[in-house]
Parts: sequence; C-alpha cells; structure tokens
Amino acid sequence: KKKIIIDTDPGIDDAMAIFVALNSPEVDVIGFTTIFGNVYTTLATRNTLHLLEVAGRTDIPVAEGSLVTFTKSTKLHVADFVHGADGLGNQNFPPPKGKAIEQSAASFLVEQANLHPGEVTVVALGPLTNIALAIELDPGFPEKIGQIVLLGGAFAVNGNVNPAAEANILSDPDAADLVITSGADIVAVGLNVTHQVIMTDADRDKLAQSNGKFAQYLCKILEVYYSYHQESYRTKGCVYLHDPTTILAAVDPSLLTYTEGVVRVQTNGITRGLTIFYNTMKRFGEVTEWSDKPTVKVAVTVDAPAVLELVMER
Ligand code: BDR
Ligand code: CA
Repeated sequence: KKKIIIDTDPGIDDAMAIFVALNSPEVDVIGFTTIFGNVYTTLATRNTLHLLEVAGRTDIPVAEGSLVTFTKSTKLHVADFVHGADGLGNQNFPPPKGKAIEQSAASFLVEQANLHPGEVTVVALGPLTNIALAIELDPGFPEKIGQIVLLGGAFAVNGNVNPAAEANILSDPDAADLVITSGADIVAVGLNVTHQVIMTDADRDKLAQSNGKFAQYLCKILEVYYSYHQESYRTKGCVYLHDPTTILAAVDPSLLTYTEGVVRVQTNGITRGLTIFYNTMKRFGEVTEWSDKPTVKVAVTVDAPAVLELVMER
C-alpha cells in the first residue's frame, strides 16, 4: 500500500479529497499536515481534526504547519469567500476534541521521509510552504520523499485568483518555486486539468439521496462552494473538483496523462504566482535558469468521468 501524507488547508474540496483518500483501499494515509490557504493555519488544523472525527479516524496524526509564508510574510490572503469563514461552508461545527501532535509539519515530513525512504507520497492540496520548510530543514528531503503530487498552477490557461495565478501557488510562490525545482519526484496537477472535473447539481442531488456518511456531510458544506462557483464562473450549477482529482492522481496515476519538463514560478510583479512550463527542447539555447533545473511531471489530460465516478463512489 502506498503511504501518503496529506498537506491541506480545508477547505471544502480539501474535505472531499480527504474523505476520498480515507475511503481508498489503495493508499494508507499515515498523517496530515496543515497550512494556510483557504483559511489560516490554526483553523486548517481545527478543520482537519474535525474531519478526522467525522470520519472516525482520529488515529491518524495531524501536524500543524507554518503560520507564515516561506519568506516569513504574514500577509496571507485566505479564501473565505470560496469556502465560508470557517472553511467548511459556514456550518459552525463544534470544535474538535483532538489536538495536533507536538511536532511541526516540516519536522513530521522530514521524520516520515527518513523512516520510510522513497516510500512516502506527499499529496499537497494547499500552498507549498511546509514542503519548502522540510527541504530547508533537511536538504536530503527531495531524494528521500517518494513523490510529491501537488495541486498547483495553471499550465497555459488562466489562473483562478487573477489571470496569471492559481490560488495555492500565489499564496506562496517562493515556496512553490523552491519545491518544484528541488529535484524531488513531482507531479503537478493544475487548473488546466481540474477545470475539466466538474460536479453538477445533479451529482450533488445523487449525493444527497445516498445515505453514506461522507455524502451527507459533504452535501451540507457544498452549498457555499456551489454559490461561489455560481457567482464567479460562467458555467452555472457546477463546481470544480481540484483537490479530489489530485488525491486520485496519487491513488491511481493512470487516470491522468502527463508531460515532463522544467517548471518555474514567477515570484514577483503582476504575474506573481504564474507557473511556466518549459519542455526542455534545445530551441532556447543556453537558458540556464531553465535548463539547469530538474524536470517535473505536469498533468495534461484527465479521465474526468472516471474521476467523478470514483469521487461519488468513495
Ligand atoms: C486550490 O485552492 C483552494 O481553494 C482549493 O482548495 C484548491 O486546493 C484551487 O486553486
Ligand atoms: Ca486545498
């Protein structure tokens, strides 16, 4: 069984992704690390603990992540208008009983990579700050981690915060550039793929009719996510399944196809957070800022009906 650690900022699609992972027999979720993004880090931790209580999986450790960006900036842009002020659809759930472990996310990631060299997949569903900090803590981390499957970027399509940038990358572009060029085995799942994986009103009705515990819970919190999509995109009556698609890319990589090349992240200016893919053909000559960097895999197509079916099932 593939061991996975989920780095997350719950988040409505994060919640869905977490439930899909916990219901996927192909993987063994050995821990969670939390990060700001959809909400501040302390709330991401609370929400992760809460979701594990809902799932009856309080046996899985949760390590709290960084409260600030990799460059220590405290100027964070949380997405409460997408996920609700509480990150989980404004449902005012009671606080969780459990607590995070006494270890930072970065130190937990390093510890697990050392305990199981080459065997742990990190699925990153939020900004890449904790993983950048793990690399800073242990420069050998990229070789010791099995794979990093991340939701981030928009390859040759517009972003979702502004035309240039996708939310997770824009929340910490310095961390993203460091992680993506670190030499780790990386799979990037971007908006070019996740905008094809759509859950419709009809799918939500099907969930509502199911008596599955996760389905019932998700129907409640999805309300806010649907309203945001309704107001913000031209496509009505549907939501994008970013994080569930990314989890499933780790569970069954054959659901997507990939290309390989160098990815750099713009860290300043109006295109801050832009992800640029270079297929490493020699046509640009000696562009060393690009050609010296290790390549990563970038998702280019997705079997959207198969992903949706698995999400509904699990
Ligand atoms: C990403 O940003 C967050 O809103 C979602 O949870 C997802 O991880 C999409 O850009
Ligand atoms: Ca997320």
